[in-house]
Amino acid sequence: MFDPTEIFNKLKLVDQSFYTQEVCREIAGKLDRIVDLKKEKKAVLLAHNYQRPEIFEVADYTGDSLGLSLQAGEVKSAEVIVFCGVHFMAETAKVVSPDKIVLLPNIQAGCSLADTADSDDVADKIDELRIKYPDLGVVCYVNTTAAVKALSDSVCTSSNAVEVVRALPNDTILFLPDENLARYVSNQIPEKEIIPWKGNCYVHQELEPESIHKAREQHPDMQVLVHPECRDDVVELADAVMSTSGMVTFAQNSSAKEFLAVTECGLSDLLTIQVQEKQFYRVCNVCRYMKMITLDNIITSLENLKPEIQLDEETRHGAERSIRKMFELTTSDKVPVSLC
Ligand code: 13P
Ligand code: SF4
Repeated sequence: MFDPTEIFNKLKLVDQSFYTQEVCREIAGKLDRIVDLKKEKKAVLLAHNYQRPEIFEVADYTGDSLGLSLQAGEVKSAEVIVFCGVHFMAETAKVVSPDKIVLLPNIQAGCSLADTADSDDVADKIDELRIKYPDLGVVCYVNTTAAVKALSDSVCTSSNAVEVVRALPNDTILFLPDENLARYVSNQIPEKEIIPWKGNCYVHQELEPESIHKAREQHPDMQVLVHPECRDDVVELADAVMSTSGMVTFAQNSSAKEFLAVTECGLSDLLTIQVQEKQFYRVCNVCRYMKMITLDNIITSLENLKPEIQLDEETRHGAERSIRKMFELTTSDKVPVSLC
């Protein structure tokens, strides 16, 4: 049973005016219901680091895109994966765990970055570029549909994009769909020609250098952690550029006491709860898609085992090939058991 006072003491650190005692009593009741349903349906709950903080309370695993892809392939005993994140992440879970029922509690939870790369347009672009560059390699960020993954040589995530592009034998790479991450990778590997797709994430694109300058004036000792989906005028102000889980590990292990996580606001919520002995300031935006997942739609989804992610086998197989390639190209000793 969840204790409403414990929930209140934790969540008030994030937003005292929203997480009142009354709200936390309701939250505790819903969390209890989810625990019962998870048992009844043999379900595990995977949550991305940008989710609402109350969801972290009931998640079996919270992580970045790479960690979630790994975890989705490790859930041996469960029959159901409830994916608290966005559509492409739930699809990736289905690709690596095809025998499980994968639920996305709100099927509208998409991603405007993934939407910039339609698979037919990507196929046309690859055909066009291969005339000029017969040796073209194609790397897609995990923020893409399974159909786009199936057209690519390898997937990458924000934590291994540089490693993947460096490891591929091709000198010319079409990198999609995030132009900011493409530029970041290109700056790290100037010997390769990176052709960027023209996409970006509205949450990160709208973060401005001025806000970071202002925060630094007020807190000169803070460490600035920036997600590589940000623009280059923001990335160049970073003390470290990393994935969302990279930021959590960095804040936990660093001797610094104050941080600014320049990314989606859920990450600042997570840091505030998980690393209570340190101080986190905010320059962030909210992703409307990530916040479409709520305790209420998790409950409904578990009760009805819907909405379920379905993939045709040809697409799933192609996407699995390029996800497997990512694990082969990187030095991580971890590969999801389902792909071994
Ligand atoms: P990571 O959590 O893998 O760093 O990526 C964040 C993201 O872009 C989710 O949309
Ligand atoms: Fe997509 Fe950006 Fe939201 Fe991530 S933060 S899910 S990239 S819109």
